[in-house]
This record gives sequence, structure tokens and C-alpha cells, in this order.
Amino acid sequence: MSSPIDDETKILNPNTGRYVLKNGKIGSKLMSSITPVEPIGTPTKFMRIAEDCLLEGTYDKQERIGFGEAGTVHKVCKLGKCDYVLKEQNADQQFKNEVEALYDLQGWKHTPKVYAAWTCHGKGYIVQELLYKCNLSARDIYTQLKNKVLPELWDRSWVFIDIHDGNIMCRKDGTIVLLDYGWACKFINDASLIPSYHELNSRLRRDVDIATAKKIELINLESNYGDEELAKEMDKELNKDLRIKKSSNSSNSSNSGLKTNLFGSASKKLAF
Ligand SMILES: Nc1ncnc2c1ncn2[C@@H]1O[C@H](COP(=O)(O)OP(=O)(O)OP(=O)(O)O)[C@@H](O)[C@H]1O
Ligand SMILES: [Mg+2]
Repeated sequence: MSSPIDDETKILNPNTGRYVLKNGKIGSKLMSSITPVEPIGTPTKFMRIAEDCLLEGTYDKQERIGFGEAGTVHKVCKLGKCDYVLKEQNADQQFKNEVEALYDLQGWKHTPKVYAAWTCHGKGYIVQELLYKCNLSARDIYTQLKNKVLPELWDRSWVFIDIHDGNIMCRKDGTIVLLDYGWACKFINDASLIPSYHELNSRLRRDVDIATAKKIELINLESNYGDEELAKEMDKELNKDLRIKKSSNSSNSSNSGLKTNLFGSASKKLAF
């Protein structure tokens, strides 16, 4: 057993369970158990978010410009600059997920720039760049999302899922930006499962994989910006596939427990 003095010269790496000595050498001693890390979607970097109740006061709140399921969005100013927004929501799993995605995707031009994120008494706060309604036709948005933005996002190992016009805005130069990463998922490959807490799992009453999440993303895109009829067709196809998969995994196919018409039909916001 090591003495307290020994422990002060060691730093624990929770991902490997190994101690690293302060002189840089990797210690040979392994912890008996390693902190469990879910394969995808886990907000590991959330540790960086500080509880700091003084930060909100450093932003001068202007008008409220958004009100979603998750929280409120205000335009805010700091040091006379007013091109920021402050999103306030419960500091829950969706918030952690959103912060993780935003951090991970910083530098990609289709994600809002993030200036700060913190928590205070159970609320989560994110300061982002101010964005604008897109001055583009639905067709333009559709084409750019389908051919460029979503493929680039998938290449970065994220799916967005929640495509609808409340979550798509633009910079003044016309760049399309995806907002609201509460339901976004990071993946390893198409067979990866979305995190167990994700609402899609309860909506589809099964463990949803990334391949399915990508299909849902494309159905949402089609329904909101493309061809509503095609979206319904894709929706039907997906339901059929899911039923086949479910019944081949189950001894009693007539009792698969799978909901049909998962996404509604005329809804502008299919999955959520
Ligand atoms: N960076 C931003 N710049 C300008 N407006 C924004 C920005 N972020 C959010 N908004 C506005 O606030 C609204 C709600 O934001 P957001 O979608 O992030 O919140 P939400 O509560 O997760 O929404 P919902 O659950 O309804 O999808 C957006 O639809 C948009 O109108
Ligand atoms: Mg939203």
C-alpha cells in the first residue's frame, strides 16, 4: 500500500486507470476498477464546465429571441458587443450532450461559435454567437444540408437527428449553421448504439443504432425541406425494416412491441 506522500506524486488517468507519475513516467500500477465510460455520447468533457453563479451577471440580457422545449434564449451584450446569445436550460443530460457536441465540433463552420458554458444551481448556460434567419430558399437549404452539411457532420462522427427549421439558422454571410445539439449523438460506426438515455430508444421501443438514426435524420430533412411524400415513403420503409429486424430477433413476431407511424406524417417536426 502506498504512502500519502507517494500519492501526491501521482496523477490518476481515469480513462486508463493507470497512475502517471509527476515526472511524466507512466506508472505500472493499475486501478482495480476503471471509471466506466459509455462508448458514445458520453459527456466526458463536461467535467470542464464549472459551477459559477457569477458569470450570468457579466452578460447584459436583451430581448428574448427563442423559447424552446429545453429553455430560453436571450440576446446578450458583453463589453458593448451584442452579437451573442445566452441559452438557459436545465443542467440535464440534454444540456451536457449539447455542450459536449458544441465543444467537439468547434472549428467546423456549420456549428455556432461557443464563448462560454457553465452551470448554476441546476441550470445550464451556453453563450454562443448570434445567428440569423436564413435568407435562402427551402430548396437551397435542403441541397446544402443533404450534399454538404450532413455528410460533413457524419464524417466528424456525429448525427444531429433533430432537423427542423427552428434548429437551422445562418450567419450574415449565408453560411448554414445547425443549432441545438440536445439530441445529437457521437458514434464510432453505423452499428454503434445511441446512448441508452436517448429519447429515440423509448420512442422506437428498441435500442436504436446509428444507421437508423441517420435514416431518421434524412426523413426529417426530407419532411421539413424536401418532398413530404418521399418523407412518408422513407418513414414507411424504415418502419418495415425495423419490424423485420425486431421480429427476426424475437420468437413472437406478432408481439414486437414496435410502434408504427413513428414520426407522424404531416408533422413538420417528425422525430421530436
Ligand atoms: N445562436 C442563436 N442565434 C439566434 N437565435 C438563436 C440561437 N440559438 C437559438 N436561437 C433561437 O432560439 C430558438 C430555440 O433554441 P434551441 O433550438 O437551441 O432551443 P431548444 O429549447 O433546445 O429548442 P427545441 O427543443 O424547441 O428544439 C431557436 O429556434 C432560435 O430561434
Ligand atoms: Mg431547437
